[in-house]
Amino acid sequence: MKVAVIGAGYVGLTTSACFAHLGHDVVCADLDVERVARLNKGEVPILEDGLPELVAEGLASRRLRFVLGATNAVLDAGVVFLCVQTPESADGSADLSFVEDVAREIAGVLQPGTVVVTKSTVPVGSTRFVQRVLSESGARAEDVTVASNPEFLREGQAVHDFLHPDRIVIGCDDPGAAVRVSDLYRKVQSPVLVTDPASAEMIKYASNAFLATKVSFINAIANLCEAVDADVREVALGMGYDPRIGFQFLQPGPGYGGSCFPKDVAALLHTANQADSDFELLAGVIQVNRAQRERIVEKITNGAGGSLSEAVVAVWGLTFKAGTDDLRESSALAITRRLLEQGAAVRGYDPAAGERAAREVPGLDIAADPYEAAAGADVVAVLTEWDQFRWLDFDRVRDSLRNPAIVDARNLLDPAAMRRYGFRYDGVGRR
Ligand code: UDX
Repeated sequence: MKVAVIGAGYVGLTTSACFAHLGHDVVCADLDVERVARLNKGEVPILEDGLPELVAEGLASRRLRFVLGATNAVLDAGVVFLCVQTPESADGSADLSFVEDVAREIAGVLQPGTVVVTKSTVPVGSTRFVQRVLSESGARAEDVTVASNPEFLREGQAVHDFLHPDRIVIGCDDPGAAVRVSDLYRKVQSPVLVTDPASAEMIKYASNAFLATKVSFINAIANLCEAVDADVREVALGMGYDPRIGFQFLQPGPGYGGSCFPKDVAALLHTANQADSDFELLAGVIQVNRAQRERIVEKITNGAGGSLSEAVVAVWGLTFKAGTDDLRESSALAITRRLLEQGAAVRGYDPAAGERAAREVPGLDIAADPYEAAAGADVVAVLTEWDQFRWLDFDRVRDSLRNPAIVDARNLLDPAAMRRYGFRYDGVGRR
C-alpha cells in the first residue's frame, strides 16, 4: 500500500522506516530542506536504536523516499499519517496549528478513498477537527475518512516498539477505513483495538498520564521512605510482584521529563478543566514532579556542604533519560539550571548531548568525560541513568573530588559499595 507520512521527527521517521520495512511504499515529507536532503542520503538526525539501518534498507529498496512539503507526499497515497509536532501552548493545551496547516495544505490533492490518520498525540476531538478542516478546505467528506492511530513509542526503543507493539489502537467511525489502516500492520503480531476516535485519543493520554502518575507516586513513596527509614527499592520490589501493580515505572528519580509526559499530562489536565471535570489527581502528579526536581537540588546542596554559592557541582547525565539524545523537558537540565541560578559552577558530562546542552544552558561547562567533570568538584550528581556511570574507576573519582560526595538521583549505584569507596552517598528513598 502507498503510505504518506507528514513530519520526519522521531515519530514520523520511525513510522516511515518501519512501514517501509513491513513492505509498504512510503513517502515521508518534512519542511526542513536540509533534513530532507540528509535523510535521502541515509543520514538520520536523531539517536534511535536500529533506525539508521531501517532508513538505509528503505532507501536501498526504494520503498522509502523523503520529500519537501506535504503535498508532494500525499499525491497518490492511500493512507496519510500526520506526525507533526503538537507543542504545549502557554495554557497547557496542545497547539494544533501544525496539524491544521497540513490538513489545509493537503485537502485539495487527496485521492478519493484516502484515509488521513492522526498519529501525533492530539487532544480528544482532534480527529473530528481534522475532518472539519479537510472539508472546509475542499476535501469531500464522502471521499476522505479521518482516523486516529496513536503511537506508544518510547524514545530510544521506538523501532522495537513499532514492530513489537503491545496493542494497536485505531479510532475510526468507518469500519472499512479502520480495516485499511489495520492492514498496514498485517505483519505485526499484536492485538488490534478498533474504537471511536475520541476513545482512541483518550487511550493515548490516559496511558501516558497513568505512567506519569506511577512515577510521581513512587517518587512520593521514596520521599516518605527517607522519612521513616525504609528502602524504596525493597518497597517497589515488594509492590511489583502484585501483577495488578507490576514492576515497571516504579523507579524513583529526579522526576519524569521528555517530549511526551509533561506535555501530555498538562494537556489532559487542560482538557479536564475545559470539560469542567475535576482531575485534582493530575494536578498532584505535576506538583510532585516539580517538587522532586527541587528535592534533588536540595540533596546536591547538602552534598556540597549546605550552600551552592562557590560550590562546584559535577553533573553526570543531561538527557531526560538514558539511551536518547533528547533534552526536551529533561529534569537533569532543569536541575542544572537551578544549580547555576543558586550560584554553583556546574561541569556536566553526557555521552549523547553534552554540546547541545551547553548551547541551551548558558554557564554550563561541558567536560569530555565523567572524570574530567568530577575533577575538583564538591559533589557529583548522577542525573541520567547512563549505564557507563556504573562502571567507572571510583577510586579515581574520589581522589579527584574536592569533597567525596555523590548524589545519585537515579539510584544507579550501590550505596554500600560507594560508602566503602569513601563517598558520602545519597540516593532517592534509600536507607
Ligand atoms: C513515553 C511513553 O513511555 C511512550 O509510550 C509514549 O509514546 C511517549 O512517552 P518516553 O518519553 O520515550 O516514552 O520515555 P519513558 O521511557 O516512558 O520515560 C518517561 C520519563 O519518566 C523519563 O524522564 C524517565 O526517566 C522517567 N521514568 C520512567 C522514571 O523516572 N521512572 C520510571 O520508573 C520510568
